[in-house]
Amino acid sequence: MTIRLDKYLASVTDYSRAEAKRLLKQKRVTVEGKVVTDPTAAVSEVALVAIDGENLRSVSNRYFMLHKPQGYISATKDRTHITVLELLEEDNIDQLHIAGRLDIDTTGLLLISDDGVWSHRVTSPRKDCKKTYWLETFDPISPEQIEKIEQGIKLDSEKKPTLPATLELLDDHTARLTISEGKYHQVKRMFAAIGNHVERLHRERIGAILLDQALSEGEYRALTVEEVASI
Ligand code: URA
Repeated sequence: MTIRLDKYLASVTDYSRAEAKRLLKQKRVTVEGKVVTDPTAAVSEVALVAIDGENLRSVSNRYFMLHKPQGYISATKDRTHITVLELLEEDNIDQLHIAGRLDIDTTGLLLISDDGVWSHRVTSPRKDCKKTYWLETFDPISPEQIEKIEQGIKLDSEKKPTLPATLELLDDHTARLTISEGKYHQVKRMFAAIGNHVERLHRERIGAILLDQALSEGEYRALTVEEVASI
């Protein structure tokens, strides 16, 4: 979604449209770091807009990161389990969705928003938004297993092999895996396909967004304008 720059400024600040036009004329407004003077310029609702070098936050959409605990399901509604959305103390929860689900027993970074276009950029394999997981396996991870995971594996009921990945071994049983896709149970299925088993899984990073170390399990915060714009 794009919006006229003067309208955008008037909607996210206390300035009127006329005042916003004056600011533009005075070359005080930047979009993605570049001075823009045209009030009719089309800007994305998630663009990084600044006045006098100070970034503005878009009010039109909401973006959160949650430190997901085990036992919660990544769904908006469920009859038997508690959903991650129940951890949010926000209005109009039904307008929010999850950008890239985690299994019930997986912990870590979950992005939640009401901006479908943005969430699509997070989840679409074509957008190459990388996800990094810390994981622990049942059996030691062998050099052959690392090679197979990194090259791509044909998973059951998938036509194409997984895209190239990077696997950094931390010790015999733990590793950091970075993948560009988010197929159903992807990480667990990748390890099952090479004869190993993922015992614990934790998402640390999505694109340039890192799970905030200040968030304990179950806690969440709004994304910064820089984090939103990084996707
Ligand atoms: N891959 C999995 O297998 N499970 C998750 O929760 C995330 C990625």
